[in-house]
Amino acid sequence: MSIDPALIAAAASALAAARRVLVLTGAGVSAESGIPTFRGAGGLWEGFRAEDLATPEAFREDPARVWRWYRWRRGICLAAAPNPGHLAIVEIERRVPAFLLATQNVDGLHPRAGSRKILELHGNIHRARCTLCGRKRDLPPEPEAPHAPLPACAACDGLLRPDIVWFGEAYAEGVLETAFEEAGRADVVVSAGTSGSVYPPAAIALAGKRAGAFLIDVNPAATEISAAADIHLAGPSGEVLPAVLAAS
Ligand code: OAD
Repeated sequence: MSIDPALIAAAASALAAARRVLVLTGAGVSAESGIPTFRGAGGLWEGFRAEDLATPEAFREDPARVWRWYRWRRGICLAAAPNPGHLAIVEIERRVPAFLLATQNVDGLHPRAGSRKILELHGNIHRARCTLCGRKRDLPPEPEAPHAPLPACAACDGLLRPDIVWFGEAYAEGVLETAFEEAGRADVVVSAGTSGSVYPPAAIALAGKRAGAFLIDVNPAATEISAAADIHLAGPSGEVLPAVLAAS
């Protein structure tokens, strides 16, 4: 990682001075834990893109295929451990008076790392929901075989689906509102590991910037968010975020 130390220092002093911080994360934060991102290398599964599988239409057409994809991904998540980027976000939460983490990740690594004030915008891969009665249930702690029978609701025997917000679906009530509200009053917004290509989450970081927050983007690649950011730290979050904390 060869980031100008002056940029790290500027990010560190913005964070140290902040009273309210919103952190927005995407798949890149879990890349160093070995979980493939959606749009990078390894983002395809059996030739399908996420946009072809993470939809209600895909589930209606072939629920077994969608479950196989989620079981494969969940197996990877269960075998993975939080990395120093996740832990640095826990430390930011500890240091600032008012903090919120809004994550697009469903892998459960932020809560496992110890993050407390967290909005899981897209749900959680370790939970399922009944397509008939809506009841939710935690999936077993060990990975299921990809071709195991499809899970059924213990209450009504309806087909269970992953408790994920798919493309074209509404977000859980109040979740986006809370994230935008916090963006609107944050002193600093840190966006880490997101391509910024999925809306509305990408708009959360940009709304923070428009409302006057200092926007720090952590991403080895340049994105729409990094273009709008006050500081773009172009490196992996597992190295960059601990370096920022070490400098504050
Ligand atoms: P993407 O796969 O679109 O983007 C991941 C981003 O992480 C890219 O911009 C990478 O450059 C960056 N990245 C890769 N390695 C990194 C590292 N070590 N540190 C920091 N950044 C790194 O993932 P998201 O932006 O999260 O939705 O995608 C948003 C949504 O689209 C997901 O929540 C998912 C997907 O389809 C649903 O499943 C509903």
